[in-house]
Amino acid sequence: MIFLTTTAETLTGAVEQVAEQRQWIDGVELRVDLLLESERETAPRFRALVDSLESRRTSHIPLIATIRRETDGGRSNQTDVARLKSLSACAASGFDFVDVESDVAPMLRSGDLGAALIGSGVTPIVSTHDFAGVPEGVTDLVDAAAAVGQNAIVKLAATPNSTADLVRLIRIADDFGARRVEHIVLGMGAFGFPTRVLTHRLGNVLTFASAPGDTAAPGHIDPETLATQYRISEATDDTRYFSVIGNPIGHSRSPEYHNGRFSSDGINAIYLPVLVDDTRDHFALAEAIPLLGFSVTIPHKQAVIPSLAETGEDVRAAGACNTVVRCPGGWKGINTDVLGFLAPLEEVLDRDLSACRVLMIGAGGAARGIAYGLLKAGSEVTVWNRTESRARGLVADLTEFSLPGSIRAVGSVTADATERPDIVINTTSVGMHGSGDPIDWFAFTGDEVVYDIVYTPPETPLIQRAAAAGCRVITGDRMFDAQAAAQYELYRVLATAGLGAASPDQT
Ligand code: ATR
Repeated sequence: MIFLTTTAETLTGAVEQVAEQRQWIDGVELRVDLLLESERETAPRFRALVDSLESRRTSHIPLIATIRRETDGGRSNQTDVARLKSLSACAASGFDFVDVESDVAPMLRSGDLGAALIGSGVTPIVSTHDFAGVPEGVTDLVDAAAAVGQNAIVKLAATPNSTADLVRLIRIADDFGARRVEHIVLGMGAFGFPTRVLTHRLGNVLTFASAPGDTAAPGHIDPETLATQYRISEATDDTRYFSVIGNPIGHSRSPEYHNGRFSSDGINAIYLPVLVDDTRDHFALAEAIPLLGFSVTIPHKQAVIPSLAETGEDVRAAGACNTVVRCPGGWKGINTDVLGFLAPLEEVLDRDLSACRVLMIGAGGAARGIAYGLLKAGSEVTVWNRTESRARGLVADLTEFSLPGSIRAVGSVTADATERPDIVINTTSVGMHGSGDPIDWFAFTGDEVVYDIVYTPPETPLIQRAAAAGCRVITGDRMFDAQAAAQYELYRVLATAGLGAASPDQT
């Protein structure tokens, strides 16, 4: 269930947020502490106001009343007694849940206030916030909730500071599940993001979301993204999980791409972005979720390799792996950047790559996979790099593989007509965010195919200059799409074959 956490300062504003997000949400958490002080006493009217929206619908939308303390990241500085009184008033007006901090929960066990609140039939959410890390044990939390009543839900919002912390948080959710304790376990911040989406897998009663552009808690995303991109309400025990790992990871286009394709193909699978600081810990996470496969982006494309049971020649030649899938002995690494690079080129060319002379600019990580793909296709490759020694190193490394093409490094590019390239490829980062042209000294004849792997923006200065000279151009977004399509095909086969299946054939 997706619950919208309101961020408005007025009750009317909160109702408007509900109306705007209604089609994506299953419930609402009214953050009473975020309302203006003058508005807070009106909180019990929220039920009636939301119901008046609902009159056009048949469902009863569940409501949570939360008055978060300043020490827990909220704005309330009321006493505990005053907050419990306000929560009681909300419960009496028809709220379904009240959020009570675990250290305040014992107050519910005795006295009129506790009796009134519990007696109203409301479900207490006994919450704990840890803004520093992930707690070691959870027995105290379970006891605190059990003392409040059988129907209490334990909520733990912790802050994973690493991939290892995220694994521990998932195990905490599993611990609650094993004890049959109703729970909501969420990781705040960037490392915790997967917990916002893994509602079914973690056994969470619900997940929270904020209206677009209005984050109520670190790591919240908007309800529409949870509902339509991650399809969290459709998750079942049979859902298959995939991910992309990187650091940072927020900018990755892969979740939108793969989730979109799973959705349109009707495949019960979710693809998560995962911030990873240590790839070894990610392999523990991949077992804990469990994942069937994952994509790898900067800076982990080399670091994953030692943990793989199997690697394709593409990974060994490129020295980089962008795709990992389960295989019988563990994990297999593949480099779909190689396929992704070649596919748009083969579409544009009117002859075979084995008949092409290629000038490749750059000799970094991305260049290796590209050079391997070109050599495998039989091309004649000339490498020019700002730092010539690096180009020579790349050539020496690739010469160790018996591939049909040829490769050499040059310190300068001559204007000799017999040396003119058919294809010019930029593998450097120059041009990213419009930062320049890596070969502004090179004059195009208009006969070259010019390929830039930079895709932010797709129309780099190099691409613009080549197009103006009459060249056929290939922009980096086409390589992204082609490598993602090759990855998706691997994931699709795994998702439909099931957990523990052998990895699909891949050359
Ligand atoms: P990636 O994995 O993205 O290829 P990399 O391994 O750091 O990143 O390689 C970056 C490539 O871009 C290298 O070829 C680098 O040239 P050097 O080896 O001389 O560093 C090239 N590059 C980066 N900035 C450049 C610039 N301003 N001008 C020319 N080449 C540049």
